[in-house]
Amino acid sequence: MGTRSIRIIMDGVTGRLGTNQHLGRSVMAIRRDGGLALADGTRLMPEPVLLGRNAEKLAALAATHGGLAWSTDRDACLADPANAIYFDVSATGGRHQRAMAAIRAGKHVYLEKPVASSVEEALEITRAADAAGVKHGVVQDKIHLPGFMKLKSVIETGMLGRVLSARLDFGWWIFDGVLHPAQRSSWNYKRAEGGGLVLDMFPHWRYIVEHLLGPIRGVSCRIATRVPERRDEKGRPYAVDVEDEAFGTFELEGGVLVQVSSSWATRVKGEDMLTVKVDGTMGSATCSLHRAHVQPLATTPKPRWDVDALVDNRHAEHWQEVPDMGPYANSYRRGWEMFLRHVAEDAPFPSPLLAGAKGLQLIDACYRSDRERRWIDVPPLTA
Ligand SMILES: NC(=O)c1ccc[n+]([C@@H]2O[C@H](COP(=O)([O-])OP(=O)(O)OC[C@H]3O[C@@H](n4cnc5c(N)ncnc54)[C@H](O)[C@@H]3O)[C@@H](O)[C@H]2O)c1
Repeated sequence: MGTRSIRIIMDGVTGRLGTNQHLGRSVMAIRRDGGLALADGTRLMPEPVLLGRNAEKLAALAATHGGLAWSTDRDACLADPANAIYFDVSATGGRHQRAMAAIRAGKHVYLEKPVASSVEEALEITRAADAAGVKHGVVQDKIHLPGFMKLKSVIETGMLGRVLSARLDFGWWIFDGVLHPAQRSSWNYKRAEGGGLVLDMFPHWRYIVEHLLGPIRGVSCRIATRVPERRDEKGRPYAVDVEDEAFGTFELEGGVLVQVSSSWATRVKGEDMLTVKVDGTMGSATCSLHRAHVQPLATTPKPRWDVDALVDNRHAEHWQEVPDMGPYANSYRRGWEMFLRHVAEDAPFPSPLLAGAKGLQLIDACYRSDRERRWIDVPPLTA
């Protein structure tokens, strides 16, 4: 059936996520496999155009991958009719303006989260993309991780009975740049550049919780800045003006409560930096990024405790691991394959920009809850 190519502007691709996941493990991996097989037998070959600010870094990255096209001129890339898709994995600040420019240029748009910095901005790009008739989507990678796929299938079997509550625990220690360099760029800690833990992570919490358990209808949230001064990439001190910790509770339709803790100022002791636990009448289930475990009612032990002596209850031994049913494709590549099919053959795509706007709706509600120290409703959202 032959091969056809599709050119993709990849904005911000020299960053941490762009280089490793979206370019290396997704777009280039699809190329290495000879393109993406479409329903009619055609192979769709993605042709990345690397876009950024630093010519040296772009040229080096392009060379690493065998001589890809690259540019530092966004306007020229958008004006070129050969480029079909605009993908944004640049620093969060300014994403709304970049997306609007791409839509005005008639490009299909695929965006990293958060898609904007407020729900109003996110709805504006959603409506603009619909009006322009371009295809659009937001990255929702976490639900394609093996651990989350396993937990989803456990819930779908009904083995938990009636779901009672859930807990989502996320956190790791981000060095402040003194003892070791920070693992996250300094823009993550600056409001004007799109920083903040809630803005960064709560888009994930919205789609993960809704995918597993159902719609979020209310939130209560408190945020804090625990490490107020940090060093940037050049070792210069700067003041942090965003939160690096957020503790919230989500109320789902039907009343289930989800306790959500998120921190860049905590140290990991459990299995992973992101874990979810769901308790139900007939059983409980947990997942980390790659693994999931269950404990049915019929094998639920009675923990023993003694104030005078340590009792080793061996709690972990009373959980059964959900087996691997892989192979599991890279979670970002899964999104790329679906989006490319959406553009090339009108296949359905599960997370259009409205899903990105829902992430911003939750974020806005969390910040408002913190400011006003109260619960905030999260009504159904339409474009
Ligand atoms: N889906 C996920 O799980 C996930 C994970 C990490 C990051 N992200 C998102 O991807 C985007 C990039 O994150 P990252 O961790 O790769 O960031 P990064 O700091 O490593 O890379 C940012 C990129 O944007 C460019 N850039 C443009 N304007 C900039 C500015 N004013 N300041 C700093 N860099 C600027 C940089 O040159 C670089 O190429 C963010 O929007 C982030 O929310 C998503």
